[in-house]
Amino acid sequence: MRIYLDHNATTPVDPVAAGAMIRSLEHLFGNASSVHYYGQQAKSALDDARTSIAALVGAEPAEMIFTSGGTEADNFAIRGVAEALEPSGRRHLITSGIEHEAVLNTFKALAKRGWRTTVLPLDATGIVSPDRLREALTDDTALVSLMHANNEIGTIQPIAELATLAHTRGALFHTDAVQSAGKIPVNVRALGVDLLAVSGHKFYGPKGVGALWVKRGIRLSPFLSGGKQERNRRAGTENVPGIVGMGTAATVALQKMDAEAVRLSALRDRLETGILASVPNTQVNGAREARVPNTTNISFDRIEAESLLIALDLEGVAVSTGSACSSGTLEPSHVLKAMNLSSHRAQNSIRFSLGASNTEEQIDHVIAILPRIVTKLRSLSLAGSR
Ligand SMILES: Cc1ncc(COP(=O)(O)O)c(C=O)c1O
Repeated sequence: MRIYLDHNATTPVDPVAAGAMIRSLEHLFGNASSVHYYGQQAKSALDDARTSIAALVGAEPAEMIFTSGGTEADNFAIRGVAEALEPSGRRHLITSGIEHEAVLNTFKALAKRGWRTTVLPLDATGIVSPDRLREALTDDTALVSLMHANNEIGTIQPIAELATLAHTRGALFHTDAVQSAGKIPVNVRALGVDLLAVSGHKFYGPKGVGALWVKRGIRLSPFLSGGKQERNRRAGTENVPGIVGMGTAATVALQKMDAEAVRLSALRDRLETGILASVPNTQVNGAREARVPNTTNISFDRIEAESLLIALDLEGVAVSTGSACSSGTLEPSHVLKAMNLSSHRAQNSIRFSLGASNTEEQIDHVIAILPRIVTKLRSLSLAGSR
């Protein structure tokens, strides 16, 4: 039995989306900028996909810009606003320590170019405190970038409240909705944000395609120079099959969202309760209330997460850790570290992220095999420390 529990890393392409992609590869080869029949066929497919992806986030189609994925959408939002606002004299940017590298490393790059950056600290809930944001905001703040749902622990930020705070000081607000779009309702107006990033492969669309929503009237310096595609905002011939696949996946995700949220949160809770009950010295990381329905992050005391990941993989179960191996040493997850968890706990945590293919039988199988694997790893680590 192979069990995939790593849907926050990526999802398989939905069969309906795959079918639409294949048809577009076979029949829609025209350049969407060409005025003839072939070009207009491709353009019409892009228009349909734009309508679908806009519907996923409650936006107007004309406000959506297609990108090469979530990373480009985040980069474009942050660099685009920073550059556009440079002449205004606002030179301060705010984010949090639990953001994806697409945001954190963009902040680091801008800091090197003279921008003042604030990375908000968090507590063990993994939720950004509005008070912390209020304290950090200045009249100099150009942009606040805070993610909607976190990829490692699944916590959902109070974006509407945070965006209102930013706006009271005249700052713009970007949210990375890569891990929320397709899982929970996302509505740009209800969230009150100015920019919002999504990525196709997190909701059963293809990889290498995403979108940035930019509120009408917000000025953004283009990231790529070239042709006039995407209303002069993102140059380059559009990836028609990818965009068609993402658009179709968005429609399917929207149709299934309510039922899947109920199904997945029941499975996730079953997994979580089962592990906590059958494996001693385990703890859930982050607030359990405000979370996307498919994610849990659990620390296993006295276990190196990487060893558990490999042991589970050998048994056919795919999970992930937020830890990264750099130059032979295991770097604890930057998300768990930003939540002020001990580096030990940040190194022994595993993310389980559920999705379409998972069943109750699979979850029960994982709960059944874990105690044996963990006991074995713990006895090995005990033997090693003697
Ligand atoms: C929260 C978040 N933002 C951004 C990204 C990057 O998206 P992409 O893989 O489409 O570049 C990811 C993907 O892991 C993510 O989880």
